[in-house]
Amino acid sequence: VGVAAVVVRQRMKSSGRWARAVAIVKEFEEKCGTPEAKLVQIADAMTVEMHAGLASEGGSKLKMLISYVDNLPTGEEEGVFYALDLGGTNFRVLRVQLGGKEGGIVHQEFAEASIPPALMCGTSDALFDYIAEKLANFVAEEEQIFHQPPGKQRELGFTFSFPVMQTSINSGTLMRWTKGFSIDDTVGQDVVVELTKALKRKGVEMRVAALVNDTIGTLAGGRYTHNDVSIAVILGTGTNAAYVERAQAIPKWHGPLPKSGEMVINMEWGNFRSSHLPITDYDHALDVESLNPGEQIFEKLTSGMYLGEIVRRVLLRMAEEAFFFGDEVPPKLKIPFILRTPEMSAMHQDTSSDLRVVDEKLKNILEISNTSLKKRRVVVELCNIAATRGARLAAAGIFGVLKKTGRDIPKEGGEKTVIAMDGGLYEHYTEYRKCLENTVGELIGDESSSAITFEHSNDGSGIGAALLAASHSLYLDDTSS
Ligand code: GLC
Repeated sequence: VGVAAVVVRQRMKSSGRWARAVAIVKEFEEKCGTPEAKLVQIADAMTVEMHAGLASEGGSKLKMLISYVDNLPTGEEEGVFYALDLGGTNFRVLRVQLGGKEGGIVHQEFAEASIPPALMCGTSDALFDYIAEKLANFVAEEEQIFHQPPGKQRELGFTFSFPVMQTSINSGTLMRWTKGFSIDDTVGQDVVVELTKALKRKGVEMRVAALVNDTIGTLAGGRYTHNDVSIAVILGTGTNAAYVERAQAIPKWHGPLPKSGEMVINMEWGNFRSSHLPITDYDHALDVESLNPGEQIFEKLTSGMYLGEIVRRVLLRMAEEAFFFGDEVPPKLKIPFILRTPEMSAMHQDTSSDLRVVDEKLKNILEISNTSLKKRRVVVELCNIAATRGARLAAAGIFGVLKKTGRDIPKEGGEKTVIAMDGGLYEHYTEYRKCLENTVGELIGDESSSAITFEHSNDGSGIGAALLAASHSLYLDDTSS
């Protein structure tokens, strides 16, 4: 057999491999499809579940949690307040000085720390001690510069971004962990009690005046700067939304009717699930192998913790079945969560003509070198498919909330809706954000879309918690005297 025959055979082999790889991408793309009609079905399913979740406790996968926030900030809040924001891979502590009417935010300082991975799966005391310690250090540093008036109670707004069954504005039990946290002994406990005990152990005098989800904090922070904010959406490590509901539309609320007639609802939409959702075998495997199988399905399709991991899973299959990266499967590609969403975003948004960023990421993260431009293009395409599906699903969720609140059709008098947005995915992944905003426009149509605007509420959740601590510390004083 001549050399020519070997070359021909090899070419056939490589074109067969290429065809197989293309078929895998095509199939993934088809299964991830989100045509408009499907998104409308998803939005409708979302509104049905919203009704069910509001009707009774446990009535739906959507928990529709009552936040006990029935008044959003007015701008009159005044004084110095602390906030602690725990919800993902990082947590922050803040000190905010509010200047009352006209004054606005006079001063704010913050410190940030990451949560050591071991603490995400350890014991409750270890996690809360760590947080309390960082807060104690921050308070000590701050108060060296800004003296705390003697005898003045320190007040804290605690943003705790996990599903919590609230029992009042400053108490609530953890229902379960999400986003890679898994600490059994916290589940069922009042997280304010846990934090307060840890603060005592560290010798910090502080009262938790408000316990809020990050969506609630973002809504409050958003409303402080913009009067038309009535919905907040987080797209970060996880995803969730909160909105202002009419108290009378909440059958499961048996408390007194709030003066405002309104109640803010934490939807916990990450746990939404519907047969209309486009779910692939990769998503299914990711879910089964996750720390919370069967839960947070919407979150696993849309949020930052998972997008990169979905892409990794498709690439791995291409390596195994189509030898996409050569005869060997690159060992790093087998490591779950090694491809993070910020890296995926950088590859997706690589504008260089030779896709230099893709090349560099493949090399640095996955130790895959010498990829052809053609292959790098395929990688970009995979990122695009996963991000587009996520962003369009998030848009369908927003459309569902707009429908439920009657904000999807233009009102006489030109009622405006501002949606306060936050989270790293929204903030940093431009393609994702553009796709999300365009899709909301597509779904509500030209006539209504001018009435809906998105506003990035930078660190709204921490400031929002401080604002709610401000308004509720007065309330606590009233009720305790
Ligand atoms: C997860 C949490 C939820 C939070 C969201 C965004 O879905 O369960 O409480 O709001 O992540 O951080």
